[in-house]
Amino acid sequence: MTIKKAIIPAAGLGTRFLPVTKSMPKEMLPIIDKPVIHYVVEEAINSGIDDIIFITGRSKRSIEDYFDDSPELEMHLMSKGKTEMLKMVRDISSLVDIHYIRQKEPRGLGDAILTAEKHISGEPFAVLLGDDIIVNSTPCTKQLIEVFIKYGRSTIAVEEVPLEKVINYGIIKGRKLDEHLYVLEDIVEKPSPEKAPSNYGAIGRYVFTPEIFDCIKKSEYGVGGEIQLTDGIKLLSESQKIYAYKFTGKRYDTGDKLEYIKAIVDFALENEEMREEILAYLRENIVKC
Ligand code: UTP
Repeated sequence: MTIKKAIIPAAGLGTRFLPVTKSMPKEMLPIIDKPVIHYVVEEAINSGIDDIIFITGRSKRSIEDYFDDSPELEMHLMSKGKTEMLKMVRDISSLVDIHYIRQKEPRGLGDAILTAEKHISGEPFAVLLGDDIIVNSTPCTKQLIEVFIKYGRSTIAVEEVPLEKVINYGIIKGRKLDEHLYVLEDIVEKPSPEKAPSNYGAIGRYVFTPEIFDCIKKSEYGVGGEIQLTDGIKLLSESQKIYAYKFTGKRYDTGDKLEYIKAIVDFALENEEMREEILAYLRENIVKC
């Protein structure tokens, strides 16, 4: 059995990116000419997903507008013969079914995922956080789906994080099966470095069996007064095996200002038209430093 549905939570307040996130979703911040969430949707599509549920909230209308048809713009481009641009504008919304659910209040990632339970209707599904971009020839979500196809169990993507940063992640304890794969034995939300069971943090990609919904419902409000997905995962691991997968790829948490800037620089360096000029600019400024 494979996975066709994905939830993309994008209802958070984005406080690390204030003041711009007062009126603009952080998921719509551009990496050159595409918003962050466009890359996330591309990853989902390239992983075989054909049905996406966005979890949105107040001030998130621009996400819906972005993925909607744009008849006036399309007519204009058509009349000017700008076929390349027309294709670009049309492509993303035509490749996948997109649905929207509103999370009434940002009560945490667990709560955001719970709002999509009816739409998921008892199938396994993927979750891709709307502000994490992961670059790799085999998309990270596809890597997780491959583990799911093999073992039929929930699988979460993890990466090694510096010990001083474990406080920002759900940190796992795992039993190593091979270079990439672990059986989850415990997961702790935002531990201090002293209490962290490892330095493997859960990042923004998951594949779940539908039993996760009941486990989130049974979880109390956790760290930060939010309904934490981590608590649901921990509960699920008590009744079903869960795998942690050390994915291959480069991840940018674009909800963090510094990571966002690094993403823009790296994407510009990968862009043939920009590469030389950006390199020259960087070299010139490094010399000045
Ligand atoms: P984050 O913790 O990075 O998002 O959640 P945040 O709360 O918006 O960010 P800061 O810390 O205040 O800057 C990861 C993902 O989960 C979504 C966010 O939109 C983001 O894509 N999320 C978070 C929700 O959809 N609902 C929530 O209640 C919380």
